[in-house]
Amino acid sequence: MANLDLIYNRKSVRKFKDEEVPKEDILKMLEAATEAPSPKHQQNWHFVVLTNREVINEMADIVTKSHEKIGELAKTEKDRKIHMSVIKYYTCFKNAPVVIMVYGSEYKMIEYKILKENNAPQEVLDVLVSPQSAAQGIGAAVENFLLAATEMGYGTCYMTGPTHAKTEIEKLIGFDKPGFELMSMISLGVAEENTPPKPPRKPLEEVVTFID
Ligand SMILES: Cc1cc2nc3c(=O)[nH]c(=O)nc-3n(C[C@H](O)[C@H](O)[C@H](O)COP(=O)(O)O)c2cc1C
Repeated sequence: MANLDLIYNRKSVRKFKDEEVPKEDILKMLEAATEAPSPKHQQNWHFVVLTNREVINEMADIVTKSHEKIGELAKTEKDRKIHMSVIKYYTCFKNAPVVIMVYGSEYKMIEYKILKENNAPQEVLDVLVSPQSAAQGIGAAVENFLLAATEMGYGTCYMTGPTHAKTEIEKLIGFDKPGFELMSMISLGVAEENTPPKPPRKPLEEVVTFID
């Protein structure tokens, strides 16, 4: 029987012990991340590793402020409160010993370029890009990272929520790679004792269709 324990053992961890993660461990997880498949093997990812607790916590403050600012658009106090209710999920990397910023670049699709130059209708072009191949490659790399971390005894959380503050975050961390955009973040560290279990999954019958 195949041993799939690392898949079932992974869960999102949002509270970490005050313990450093050795650089060689981080590199091992990043190597696993880059073993992921990517569209036409373009490996359209770049990882920025943050280990400075002050920077990480300042980033959480920036996300809170950005979220509050967006929340001002809500027309009622009730809606504003609902908007703000997710903030602890968007800032759950606060106090993490490591945060990996995952950048992605555009997937260069040959046929898209050719069809665009030949004035193909927009609806055809939209269908070509709708699988969001670049984002899917990033997701595959992040999952590989999470699984490697789990197997190595670390806790992680995959996050896209905080990225709405990407412009301010980039100013803080001073990272700018032309053509690359912040796609997601991963918090990493040794999990606190007794962090909540992963939530149950939908039953397979609900999410799987066999067509014979
Ligand atoms: C694309 C993506 C974005 C996510 N963004 C966040 C986030 O911003 N904050 C957070 O706390 N969790 C985030 N999560 C984690 C999910 O909440 C979590 O995976 C889900 O609740 C299932 O729990 P589990 O990971 O423990 O199995 C994200 C997960 C994915 C795949």
